[in-house]
Amino acid sequence: MSITVSAPGKLMILGEHAVLYGYPCIATALSKYLFVEAITDISKDVLFTPGISNQSFLRSALTIFRQNYGIKKYINIKTRSELGNYGLGSSAATIVGALKALSRLFNIPLSDKELFDLAYEIAITVQKKASGFDLACAIYGGTIYFDGRTKKVEKISTLSLPMIAAFSGQKRNTVDMVGYVEQLKQEKPHFIEEIFRSIALLVEEGKKAILNCNWKTLGNLLNKNQEFLVKLKISTQKLDQMIDAARKAGSFGAKLSGAGGGDCMIALVSLEKKSQVIQAVKKVGGEVLDLITSVEGVSVL
Ligand code: MEV
Repeated sequence: MSITVSAPGKLMILGEHAVLYGYPCIATALSKYLFVEAITDISKDVLFTPGISNQSFLRSALTIFRQNYGIKKYINIKTRSELGNYGLGSSAATIVGALKALSRLFNIPLSDKELFDLAYEIAITVQKKASGFDLACAIYGGTIYFDGRTKKVEKISTLSLPMIAAFSGQKRNTVDMVGYVEQLKQEKPHFIEEIFRSIALLVEEGKKAILNCNWKTLGNLLNKNQEFLVKLKISTQKLDQMIDAARKAGSFGAKLSGAGGGDCMIALVSLEKKSQVIQAVKKVGGEVLDLITSVEGVSVL
C-alpha cells in the first residue's frame, strides 16, 4: 500500500522571534505544498527527497515514529516540494507530511494535537529552538493565532488574506538568525523583552483586525511590527527596498516574514492596487510568489 499526503507551507504574519519566547504570533498556511509518499519496503529504508537539502528532519521523524509505535518495517519515502528555498516552512511541512503519511500507512490514528506534539518533539530534537508555529500551520491550516507558551492554536480565518509575498533572493539560516536574536537578548535583556512585549500587543490587535477583515488596520500593524524587526537588525537592505516599494505603491502595509536576514516579505493589498504593488516590488528585484493563504492543513490525497 502507498500513502501520499500534502502539507502546506507557511507565512508569518505578525510575531516572529517573539513567539520563541512565549509570546503569541499570527501565521497562515499557503498554497505551496510538500508532497510525501510513503510505502513499506522489503529490504532497506529508501529516502528520495529532491529539493530537500537537509534530510535530518525526515530521518528524525522516521526514528521517533518507529520508537513510539514499535514499527520494525523498512520504509520507502519520496517527496516532491513546491516550497523551494524561500523560507516557507519546508522543514515543518516535511515533518508533518512524513508523520501523517506514516500514521496512515501503519493505521495509527493521530489527533491533530498528538500529531503536533510528536512533530514538535522532532523539530526540537533537530533544531533545538523552535516555536512550532510552522508545524501548527501545516497541521491545522487556515490563518492561526498561535500561543508560543502553551502551543494552543486558534484558527482565526479560513479565507485567503488580501496579501502578496515576494522573495528577496537572499538566504540566511533560520538557526543562525534565531541564535543572533538570542544573543542580542542576553546582551540587552530589558530592551529586547520590551520589543517582544510590544510585538505581542500588535499580535492581539492583529487578531481582532483579521476577525473583522479590517485590512487597513492590519496593514498598519504590519508596518509597526516591521519597525521592531528593524530595531532587532534582522531586516536587510533588499527587504527594506521591497517593503518600501510596496508601501509607496499603495499597499496597506508590509513587513518581512519569518526569521529575517533574507527570505520573503509580505504586503497587504487591495484588489485594485494589487498589480501596481506587484510591479513595484518586482522593479526593485523582488520575486513575487503566486499563492493564496489560509489553505487547508495536511491532507491525505
Ligand atoms: C521563523 O519563521 C520564525 C521564528 O520565530 C522561529 C520560530 O518561531 O520557530 C524566527
